[in-house]
Amino acid sequence: VENVSGEVKYILYVKPWTQFFDLKGEKEIPRSYASSVQIRNCTLKCRQARYVIPAPDQYTLENVTLEKRRYKFSYNKKEDRVKPYKLEDPLVFADGGKVDSPDLWPVRRAEILEIFQREMYGRIPPASKVYPEVLERGTTLGGAAERIQVRMWFSPDKTGPKVDWLLVRPLRSVPSPVILALNFYGNHTVLPDEQVLMPDYPMEGDLMDRGAMNDTTRRSFFPVKEFIDRGYAFVTACYADVSPDPENPADEALAYTRIFDLWGARDELCTDQTTSLSAWAWALMRGADLIASLPELDASRILLTGSSRLGKAALLAGAYDQRFAVVAPNQTGGGGAPLSKRDFGETIASEINNFPHWFCRAYEKYAGAEQTMPFDQHLLLSCVAPRPLLIEGFNNPWFDTRGEFLSLKAASPVWEFLGVQGLPAVEWPDSYDTSAIGSVIGYVRRDGQHGLETPDWKWMLDFADRHFRP
Ligand code: GCU
Repeated sequence: VENVSGEVKYILYVKPWTQFFDLKGEKEIPRSYASSVQIRNCTLKCRQARYVIPAPDQYTLENVTLEKRRYKFSYNKKEDRVKPYKLEDPLVFADGGKVDSPDLWPVRRAEILEIFQREMYGRIPPASKVYPEVLERGTTLGGAAERIQVRMWFSPDKTGPKVDWLLVRPLRSVPSPVILALNFYGNHTVLPDEQVLMPDYPMEGDLMDRGAMNDTTRRSFFPVKEFIDRGYAFVTACYADVSPDPENPADEALAYTRIFDLWGARDELCTDQTTSLSAWAWALMRGADLIASLPELDASRILLTGSSRLGKAALLAGAYDQRFAVVAPNQTGGGGAPLSKRDFGETIASEINNFPHWFCRAYEKYAGAEQTMPFDQHLLLSCVAPRPLLIEGFNNPWFDTRGEFLSLKAASPVWEFLGVQGLPAVEWPDSYDTSAIGSVIGYVRRDGQHGLETPDWKWMLDFADRHFRP
């Protein structure tokens, strides 16, 4: 199919055969087969591009290419068009039983985390033993800090996949609290020093200059000097070391390389298989392993953050791994902090079609059918409880900042149930208004562009300071 424009419900729709139950003595269902389906150069408005329910006993579907870049997804930007929706109570089990004592919360939390693995992000890969190799050490930032580069291997013979970590730690405070985040463009963009290794693989976009992400006039940056001045160490690795993040959904297979070599290829027919988001979250957990192995760093004081898709990964890691003392995802977008059942901004249809490698196949059934979901993002947020959680947003309808706030509000009873303060009783905080940042959980938003800017870092570090320096 090529050169078509128009409006459709699904572009590719394949469902198992269910209408005939009497096979009249046939032992097997006759198998169907389709291959070499190409859809290109189409401008289509759709609810979902690909709706394929695997049925390996019924059909084989091979070699399908959807050149997806031109698909447009309609989304709601008007508050008065949001229809009523119903959210699950985080303190009620899936079978209807009440979580009536704090001892039961870990059981409910495990149930929630299982739902997210099965239905949305795929399996969090198994923890792996790490084999760190220090590649380089030196002083940086005018002698105020030490720079350490560590290559993390996952096998004792130092072969196979690896992740290169950059650590910058203040010399004066030992052991120091740590800011942990993945970066988008390579460790060399975070610190200008020429010793910092550049990625040894081709990047999706152009290779950025040394220190580019240090530039505070950019729309998103890591002010490493300020971290050090405030007594924090900074630990980072490039997310593409873990899983490449192909811009074109047609290149999806590329996502399941690098660290995925530890777990084997993704099988189309397995609906809850590990995704890139889970792999990035897993890498953050390995970052916590590394921090714990270094006496100069304080593993009990980790501030975990990330912006956008890396904010989703940070949220995921923070929900699953209780070693992260303070969790502060920034501008996560759909599939992160905002509610999915609230029909506003990015939709599941656009998420799974633009970024098929972020979510597992089981998630596809909820595109355009959000109200049938047995969960929503507030449940993921609640898994951080009772630890401190700060959600940072910005005013952009695609990112549904109000949906993030409402998500945190719906999760807040869990913190209260566990005996700490919930979200302050603020109707809807203004931009730059910090009144919804409570002592343990909080929400704040700003105007301007997408990314981590001065106010975001200030809110986050002030918040972490309160917990790390009581
Ligand atoms: C897109 C995507 C968001 C994501 C963002 C980003 O806007 O739809 O879900 O958070 O990219 O990672 O930059």
